[in-house]
Amino acid sequence: MVAFSNAVNSRHSEDIKLLMSQASGKRLISFAGGMPNNDLFPVKQIDDIYNALSEDIKKLCFQYGPTSGYPPLIHSLKNYLNHKGLPVNENHILVTTGSLQAISIITQEFVNEGDIILTENPCFVGALSVFETFGATIESIPIDHEGIHIKTLKSKLASLKKTPKFLYVTPNYHNPAGIIYSQKRKTELLEVLSGTGIILLEDDAYSDLYFNESEKYLTKPMKSFEAKDVEIIYTGSFSKILGPGFRLGYMLSSKDIFEKAESIKQALDACTSNFMQILANEFLAQHKLEPYLKFLRSEYLERKNLLQKYLKKHIPADITWEEPKGGFYIWLQLPEHINSTDIFKESIKKGVVFVTGKTFDPKSKKDDRLRLSFSNMPKESIEKGVIILSEAIKKVLQASKIVRP
Ligand SMILES: Cc1ncc(COP(=O)(O)O)c(C=O)c1O
Repeated sequence: MVAFSNAVNSRHSEDIKLLMSQASGKRLISFAGGMPNNDLFPVKQIDDIYNALSEDIKKLCFQYGPTSGYPPLIHSLKNYLNHKGLPVNENHILVTTGSLQAISIITQEFVNEGDIILTENPCFVGALSVFETFGATIESIPIDHEGIHIKTLKSKLASLKKTPKFLYVTPNYHNPAGIIYSQKRKTELLEVLSGTGIILLEDDAYSDLYFNESEKYLTKPMKSFEAKDVEIIYTGSFSKILGPGFRLGYMLSSKDIFEKAESIKQALDACTSNFMQILANEFLAQHKLEPYLKFLRSEYLERKNLLQKYLKKHIPADITWEEPKGGFYIWLQLPEHINSTDIFKESIKKGVVFVTGKTFDPKSKKDDRLRLSFSNMPKESIEKGVIILSEAIKKVLQASKIVRP
């Protein structure tokens, strides 16, 4: 028997492995994967970008680069983040291999085994798997349609014996809940954290994917709010806009945090792929991102509208949800006496998969929700998928009536 370390004990890592295999199952109608659409990738633009590179830059693609990132990409990122109102001049950018690596680096930088990390409930399962891997004690706070529950956060803070190292939140087009924090809730959250010494880890993977230009202002990052006495680390990703195959993310933080993070990254993978950084930089520097985002927003809006329409048409009346304003997800609320794992067992028999609610609960228990992702779904399969899902829900509802007195 080999002696594994504690790091292998993440329950949520097992959930993700299963999820990724189901998300790409060939004959399945999959509402499961939180991935961009295969048919929308900018294949031609990237072909053109690579072909037009000089011989020297092509050679650089194959080479190692600085740990903090390819300098021209850092420059382009500064412009891009500056447009979001972020304080790029007072902070430093570290390019990472996906934003999940940034989350992992930040966890290694601050968390010893047994330290407390605060999360939302539900929470992005990838982050949960990182926090578990590093032996953190996770304390979660519920969210509603406007964001994290402030009263519960306050009472949780009052009840804890140890100061949590950080609070991890995904305020814009939440994964899995689909919601966006109201401006008011963002401000209240910063007020609660002010002076506590708890770092705010603001994960912003989806903010470019709003459906309505007039609501873009809602995506304003908390790191741009000039909050007093709150340390905020902001993370972002190219995964949901250019493609997760780039494995390209970044973090924006104060100098001290950046320098230690850079050392951790050096030990992890030395640097992020120059190939991908160079291609992404050209995409930004040649002003190809904004027109491409316009195209993506309309495509995802169309898919969201179709899913919304067919859910309204077919799903049993006691299932409810918030219509998302951007991002990839619809988060269904089930009646309390049934659970999404039972529905999953029924729907997969007929070839439809989604992600169960408990996957996003740090304790893997709360199962009264399910996540439907509309992003990587062929438009013509949406209605069929919803009909099969509805049948599975009806079957489970029916069975619960038989069992209940
Ligand atoms: C909220 C959130 N943060 C971060 C990530 C990770 O993205 P990346 O591919 O950049 O590691 C995801 C991907 O699903 C996500 O949903």
